[in-house]
Amino acid sequence: MSAPADPAGAYARLRPDSARLLDRIARLAEVGAIDGGGVCRLALTDEDKAGRDLVVGWMRALGLGVSVDAIGNIVGLRPGRSAGPAVMTGSHIDTVRTGGRYDGNLGVLAGLEVVETLNEAGIETERPLAVAAFTNEEGARFAPDMMGSLVYVGGLDLDAALATEGIDGACVGAELARIGYRGTAPVGAPEVHAFVELHVEQGPVLEREGVTLGAVESVQGISWTEFALRGVSNHAGTTPMALRSDAGYVAAETAAFVRRLARELGGDQVGTVGLIELGPNLVNVIANSARFTVDLRNTDEARLQEAERRLHAFVDDLAAAERVEVTRRTLARFEPVPFDPQVIARIEATAARLGHTIRRMPSGAGHDAQMLARVCPAAMIFVPSVGGISHNVREFTAKGDIAAGAETLLHVLLELAG
Ligand code: GLV
Ligand code: MN
Ligand code: MN
Repeated sequence: MSAPADPAGAYARLRPDSARLLDRIARLAEVGAIDGGGVCRLALTDEDKAGRDLVVGWMRALGLGVSVDAIGNIVGLRPGRSAGPAVMTGSHIDTVRTGGRYDGNLGVLAGLEVVETLNEAGIETERPLAVAAFTNEEGARFAPDMMGSLVYVGGLDLDAALATEGIDGACVGAELARIGYRGTAPVGAPEVHAFVELHVEQGPVLEREGVTLGAVESVQGISWTEFALRGVSNHAGTTPMALRSDAGYVAAETAAFVRRLARELGGDQVGTVGLIELGPNLVNVIANSARFTVDLRNTDEARLQEAERRLHAFVDDLAAAERVEVTRRTLARFEPVPFDPQVIARIEATAARLGHTIRRMPSGAGHDAQMLARVCPAAMIFVPSVGGISHNVREFTAKGDIAAGAETLLHVLLELAG
């Protein structure tokens, strides 16, 4: 991977149009817009379809060859002087139910802005350039997260992914067909030479340190488990405490334990219970059912396994004492992923050359780039999230930071594509 010869320095002055990029971000954010400036575009809903249609329209208008594969990944391809594996960028446009407008969307739309900048400058690259919008990165409706990119790299069987049932009982394959995005392009095409994803940090580090960009070195390990508990409903007033089989109690106690566990393990360990449903969910009825999820993450695989062991032991002991039946299901499990040292170094050097401050950092969130890292050199560029807020309508990144991220992305892609 050597940098292209550029004696006249013509490429070095190339800048994406950040106003145009922000305009696309704003227009995409109108699709599924919710109060407070956020977006609700859960994967494979009508809103996701409308967002996809908009992005595909933009890709076509930029002259990209658009393909959609059987899991609904959208790839826009800009041919290079030679055929062969593409230098790819991109991310996702699905959101959580209460999402912001930058998470994922920035990566896809910055890719389009890079293409438009190159088109305008009449620059041909040696390798093809590809911009991808991967299906269901969030995993909020269908688990696991990063589903489309995981299928793309062969890490999840296509049929298993298509058969996945969501939180609303809908099925991935049927929903893809319903919205017209169960495509026919071969999964995993084009082959990828290198992958670079621009994303908002979604955490507080860059802002706190006054640094403009992050060169992401790794993504922490992710463990998602869904627990289903069955107890016995009974009268809240007449049933002595010692005689209860209260599924709600076990769920609530476990939620509190997850917080204690993360604190006790310390270091990078985080733990979240983000979903709890009780049945019959009435003021004067002991809950006979509970369903809840636990999200555990750590940069260290051994410590993540320790957290999982302690969580399962806690639930088993408590449920046994309460005579509550437990079933559990792994929704997602990914080990920590290191990114490619050469791509990280290239991001750092390019940002410095362009005059942007940059620091190396791990990612706390999951990203499509961690899946692409299985098949090619990959890394990510982070831009600051104001207040470290994300998965929230208040998610915000300043225009100047978006410009710095997009400019760095452009030049890294240009170097990789030759
Ligand atoms: C998904 O992007 C996650 O990190 O939860
Ligand atoms: Mn994201
Ligand atoms: Mn997200």
